[in-house]
Amino acid sequence: MEWMGNIVVVGVQWGDEGKGKIVDLLAQEADIVARSQGGANAGHTIFRKDREFVLHLIPCGILYPEKVCILGNGVVIDPKVLFEEIDQLQNYGISVGDRFFISDSAHITLPYHKQVDGARELSRRLGTTQRGIGPTYVDKMGRIGIRTSDLLDFEIFKEKLKKNAEEKNFILREFYKETGWDWQDTLEEFQRYGERLRPWITDTSLLINKALDEGKRILFEGAQGTLLDIDFGTYPYVTTSNASAGGVCTGLGIGPTRIQQVLGVAKAYTTRVGEGPLPTEFSPDLDEMMRIMGREYGATTGRPRRCGWLDALVVRKSVRVNGAESLAITKLDVLDGLERLRICVGYQYRGRTLSEFPNQIEVLQECEPVYEQLEGWQKETRAVRRIEDLPREARKYLNRIEELVGVKISIVSVGPRRDETILLENFHW
Ligand code: GDP
Ligand code: IMO
Ligand code: MG
Repeated sequence: MEWMGNIVVVGVQWGDEGKGKIVDLLAQEADIVARSQGGANAGHTIFRKDREFVLHLIPCGILYPEKVCILGNGVVIDPKVLFEEIDQLQNYGISVGDRFFISDSAHITLPYHKQVDGARELSRRLGTTQRGIGPTYVDKMGRIGIRTSDLLDFEIFKEKLKKNAEEKNFILREFYKETGWDWQDTLEEFQRYGERLRPWITDTSLLINKALDEGKRILFEGAQGTLLDIDFGTYPYVTTSNASAGGVCTGLGIGPTRIQQVLGVAKAYTTRVGEGPLPTEFSPDLDEMMRIMGREYGATTGRPRRCGWLDALVVRKSVRVNGAESLAITKLDVLDGLERLRICVGYQYRGRTLSEFPNQIEVLQECEPVYEQLEGWQKETRAVRRIEDLPREARKYLNRIEELVGVKISIVSVGPRRDETILLENFHW
């Protein structure tokens, strides 16, 4: 493989596109794997030998013994989940040790964030992961958040926590009619977390920029997907961070000139967990079948994922927003055996055909997909390693995606394991 700078791996649908597998594949050539946004709402699956790992916070590069892994300032950290993950890795003989770093400016998810997330779900029903992600970012923007560095000084932490307690308890008790939150318990618990986090907390912007100056290769591991981005997703059915490539710069403290490549990851069909529109959603019988074939259950919450046809408008929008120059198409093997396939090429809206994805959810909710039909293939693709060995119909399907989206496919994934991959000629990293 040839050197082509630093790369962003970003989801171009509603998350769970198979970023974990692609990051694991590309991380072989990276020195550092860094995350810039999201938190424990992510669930990235990787196979090592025959063992399946699901990582929520720690970048997927951790499975390689020598790779440095970074959680940037844009990530929100739930220490409890983080330590569970570290302990689990340790049980498998993988040591995080001194090659893991957390930004001193990353915000901390506290118990009241999770409580508010859960309570708000009862009335708002966004289908969040209830990991406290939204409320943590809201406090960050509201300038009352608590950052990792605050945990390192007991007096500072105590002061900030105490200040927040009154407001949070008022909201929890008076508005949500929940039991209150005991800040004294949190103080003790998080003081212990702070001590454990101490060796890893640093100025990661400084660290990463130094590494870049030394010519180190960085892989930026996206979480969630572009249609879940707070600005470019199907608002309000989104997550609370910039999950598109733009978030990499602000979430790690690097300039745009440090990024050379953006690779969009798309499933060969579409899935989404939680509430919100999915225009190409399958009919219930096909939905059930594809969920079983594709093992479409959330890696974080275990919820069944809703499934639908590939939507070219979704992927084209994401390619534009991210500046992606190429695509990795995953789970092509899941389509093996279908007689006919559909791709959404437009939307019918009040007697007009829309050719671009609308930004208003009220418009989207009235849209009916316009489909193009293609022949399926009745052959297994999991053992295929060269594009020319794919069934003719599968190649046609991929070519049509390229035409509709306007960029080339550089990776095709035909199974969850690292070697179940077809690298195309235009793949460089
Ligand atoms: P991520 O959040 O984008 O990293 O994706 P998830 O790990 O949440 O979900 C992707 C699921 O698809 C995982 O169970 C992967 O093991 C699996 N997977 C990834 N690529 C492929 C593929 O090409 N074929 C099949 N059959 N499964 C895949
Ligand atoms: P990865 O990185 C799929 C979804 C939730 C919900 C919405 C808001 O594995 O692709 P949140 O808890 O973030 O406030 O929930 O976003 N969501 C994801 N869906 N994959 C993810 O991450 C997701 N992270 C959040 O299901 O609909
Ligand atoms: Mg996932």
